[in-house]
Amino acid sequence: MGASLLSSPALLVLFSFFTLSLLPQPVLGITRHYKFDIKLHNVTRLCHTKSIVSVNGQFPGPRIVAREGDQLLIKVVNHVSNNISIHWHGIRQLRSGWADGPAYVTQCPIQKGQSYVYNFTIVGQRGTLFWHAHISWLRATVYGPMVILPKHGVPYPFAKPYKEVPIIFGEWFNADPEEVISQALQTGGGPNVSDAYTINGLPGPLYKCSTEDTFKLKVKPGKTYLLRLINAALNDELFFSIANHTLTVVEVDAIYVKPFETETLLITPGQTTNVLIKTKPGYPSATFFMTARPYVTGQGTFDNSTVAAILEYESPPNSVHSSSSMLPLFKPILPALNDTFFATNFASKLCSLASAQFPANVPQKVDKHFLFTVGLGTSPCQQNQTCQGPNGTKLAASVNNVSFAMPTTALLQAHFFGQSNGVYTPDFPSSPIIPFNYAGIPPNNTMVGNGTKVVVLPFNTTVELVMQDTSILGAESHPLHLHGFNFFVVGQGFGNFDTNKDPAKFNLVDPIERNTVGVPSGGWVAIRFQADNPGVWFMHCHLEVHTSWGLKMAWIVLDGKLPNQKLLPPPADLPKC
Ligand code: C2O
Repeated sequence: MGASLLSSPALLVLFSFFTLSLLPQPVLGITRHYKFDIKLHNVTRLCHTKSIVSVNGQFPGPRIVAREGDQLLIKVVNHVSNNISIHWHGIRQLRSGWADGPAYVTQCPIQKGQSYVYNFTIVGQRGTLFWHAHISWLRATVYGPMVILPKHGVPYPFAKPYKEVPIIFGEWFNADPEEVISQALQTGGGPNVSDAYTINGLPGPLYKCSTEDTFKLKVKPGKTYLLRLINAALNDELFFSIANHTLTVVEVDAIYVKPFETETLLITPGQTTNVLIKTKPGYPSATFFMTARPYVTGQGTFDNSTVAAILEYESPPNSVHSSSSMLPLFKPILPALNDTFFATNFASKLCSLASAQFPANVPQKVDKHFLFTVGLGTSPCQQNQTCQGPNGTKLAASVNNVSFAMPTTALLQAHFFGQSNGVYTPDFPSSPIIPFNYAGIPPNNTMVGNGTKVVVLPFNTTVELVMQDTSILGAESHPLHLHGFNFFVVGQGFGNFDTNKDPAKFNLVDPIERNTVGVPSGGWVAIRFQADNPGVWFMHCHLEVHTSWGLKMAWIVLDGKLPNQKLLPPPADLPKC
């Protein structure tokens, strides 16, 4: 049903062209309506059939297509017994925080039989993003692409591709992911890992009982294709490559980059990457694998399998090749599973386009500095129980040793109505209370603290945040995602961040701007952003298991003085807890 919404009334389009030719100012966007029915439906992968929570009976879910400047009204109707909320990952939600979606942060979840209309306008963004459920592990099956086209008449800063194709990575569990995480939280051990990775919902031929479930990208020779890559996997960063085809990276997280070529890329959960591929000039008489497998730095078990899709050339008319399965098949070589050198090198190639039309507005002065440790830890086992975490504890995770306790009502409501008492406290530490050698030998005490603590920022504060990985229970790369903002990645390095030496090396000219960044394993990353969006903004590791363990926190940005610097009031249909 989503696709039909693409075509706005012809008159409106005509009107847009007409006004565009007359007026110098940008065309106003249109309003697009979508309806998401959250339902159960049966899906079979790897010879396992199970009932999944999905949107409109589609897996992956429907594609949202809009233009920069458009307003979206997405009615989500919950027909299942699980509570649900949907997050529009990477959408800035300027003053519309009520539509952001993380359960118990900006809204209470939508209960069975209830509905909620997400109402937001896409301002100053174009590119690939995605949407996903933002409660428990439901995003395992509830996710889909968001394609934001530039305004009418505004070209891409690269040659117009012949075709555009979303490629969305996911993770398939034969078991019910909700069971997997609830069991893990009970026992305190690590959750069972997925059984397969998927490309557009399909695991591909490298898994048992899966050859039929292979995504095929059919291409013509001599053309340029834009692949909109999205990592919607729950717990795994992924390497990706296409045999014998070079990728030109042109955009990440809906931000244009200085284009660069690579054979392989790395994409963390929560990140998107647009790449151009040029197909061979003539029919190659071969087919090509596109594969992805994880980049792993942690010490837990993980799914070390490989998803494959097939790049297949349309055979020329009158060709003798009747079946592509007769053709030679080329396979890409992916980096080793723990190739941190590749990860570092790849991250260093990403720079904002920083053109006159798409400037990199990096905050040059900083109002507030923060140092957050991110990493794992432990929490005590319930009495009379044995837990499966280290030394009989439960696994946990934290930011500045605060393992975030989810409230039972939404933070944004508590904030907006001045009812924070008993819901949250504004005392999230701006740096570790007890400093230690973060990247060195871990301390003996690995217990985390708990709380629903937030940072409160005055409107327009410029923030520099250094996120420092800890080696507690092993150093590990953490893809940190910030809601409500893009940030600039001004620096990164290994070991402990050095306040005296490292800032001198920051890139304040054309750093990459994005919404999710990998904190290097055993290292740090420095980001800057301007708190120009009033509301409550979640920040968390996009490895869902780490979020479940508490690697999350929230920022509250206060209203500014001007009327257009204030959070809008909540919509009437905002769900109740
Ligand atoms: Cu894509 Cu808070 O998440």
